[in-house]
Amino acid sequence: MGNRPTIQSTLPTGKQATSVSPLAGRCTAVVGLQWGDEGKGKVVDLLAPAFEAVVRYNGGANAGHSVVVKGERYALHLIPSGILYPGKLAVIGNGVVVDPEVLLKEADGLRSRGVDVSGLVISDRAHVVMPYHKAEDEVRERLISESGGVGAREGDGKGGIGTTKRGIGPCYADKAQRATAVRVGDLANVEALRTKLRRICAFKNATLGAVGCRAFDPEELTIWAAQMGERLRTSIRDTTMLLHDLLETGKPVLFEGANAALLDVDHGTYPFVTSSSTTVLGIPAGTGVPGSRIDRVYGVVKAYSTRVGNGPLPTEQINPIGNRIRERGREFGTTTGRPRRVGWLDLVAVRYSAMLNGVTDLAVMLLDVLAGFDELHVCTAYRHKGVLIERFVPDSEFLYEAQPVYTTMPGFSQEITAATSRADLPAAARAYLDLIEKVVGVPISIVSVGPDRAQTILA
Ligand code: GDP
Ligand code: IMO
Ligand code: MG
Repeated sequence: MGNRPTIQSTLPTGKQATSVSPLAGRCTAVVGLQWGDEGKGKVVDLLAPAFEAVVRYNGGANAGHSVVVKGERYALHLIPSGILYPGKLAVIGNGVVVDPEVLLKEADGLRSRGVDVSGLVISDRAHVVMPYHKAEDEVRERLISESGGVGAREGDGKGGIGTTKRGIGPCYADKAQRATAVRVGDLANVEALRTKLRRICAFKNATLGAVGCRAFDPEELTIWAAQMGERLRTSIRDTTMLLHDLLETGKPVLFEGANAALLDVDHGTYPFVTSSSTTVLGIPAGTGVPGSRIDRVYGVVKAYSTRVGNGPLPTEQINPIGNRIRERGREFGTTTGRPRRVGWLDLVAVRYSAMLNGVTDLAVMLLDVLAGFDELHVCTAYRHKGVLIERFVPDSEFLYEAQPVYTTMPGFSQEITAATSRADLPAAARAYLDLIEKVVGVPISIVSVGPDRAQTILA
């Protein structure tokens, strides 16, 4: 074990925000254990003071991470949530797909609210989401929807995958295809990029033009890309070397997962997933930092389930229960504004995600939203074709047919947003947390009882 410096983080109130004391030169990760929007932004914001850098490793502007500080709400899409602390490095790793327009708008928006964004660093090897990627995302969703949907069953995903239409899938596809990819580093070399974009546009206009997309002009795109490159120039770096230099000098690093485990391209509810490795398994490839450096993983769990877009959600409540949770939890997308689908907590799914991520600590979020129900239901197994199944099966067909088996818990009527310790919570809320720890087999070290930084219980 290395030397463990006592880096304490404090809330604006002077109260200790977290007991996290990262080891010198080690890494902590924050990852979502459901279908996204678990409250990762809030957890990263709580932990960030103890770290030198906060690093995004996957996804792009499909993410929407909200942080609320003293009533002020910040919605971050590409910039790591640690940016809100002056002096922190906010690193966009090579595994992220970067829409430069969204990034610059986000940086301008933060600057106009007095946030210092000078710590922003972008990998030269991150891929660029180009305007044709967004057009392709849109047209693919429409055509797939018109041709009957995504899944094997009639009507599955009849609206397509239900993507955020931020060009994420098409950009990762070009990364894998190679010949038609543009990386952030390319934005600095306009002449080479002009040649490349002529070739790429010829290809895109032929393929996307055939399915009704508008034509893309290489010269227009070159001018656009050059402008983006010029504005981002001073922030573009070899972030792999930067992170290794930090770690070698004993600085701790925090990774901020985007999207969530059940949206992982390999391990999620395929095909209703995003296009990247969303779990800690994506960190080495998406940053160049080996997994052996990561010694603590916070798994973020919403106290119930939500999902945006299509795909199975076994505990979904399309009824007054779901509507009540949606209203109380303000369950409308941070990125697209879409109403989120809502269901009871699914611990079969959460246990699987915790296993995949090697989670060491749970952060249970939005517990306050569940106040006022007589009973709370928690899925602790599935019944599939008459058979009781206790292990998650990451297969959409299976999950569409799985019936949740619920453990019913007493509800709590009091509002809990002012609770400052687990002991302050009503007995039923404490029993709910105990059940989560027991079924998942991981201790809870953060309980969130409201969106604000200060509305947090630390174990
Ligand atoms: P992320 O994508 O995982 O960062 O989560 P989002 O920011 O998309 O969605 C979480 C939402 O819940 C945001 O609006 C947060 O401000 C809010 N939130 C976070 N924790 C709590 C909490 O404990 N209680 C309530 N009521 N809202 C919370
Ligand atoms: P954060 O980081 C919730 C979902 C989309 C869609 C699917 C594929 O805020 O938790 P994509 O545009 O990525 O190709 O869409 O994945 N999705 C998210 N849902 N939160 C997210 O991010 C998401 N990122 C992607 O709704 O169903
Ligand atoms: Mg979100």
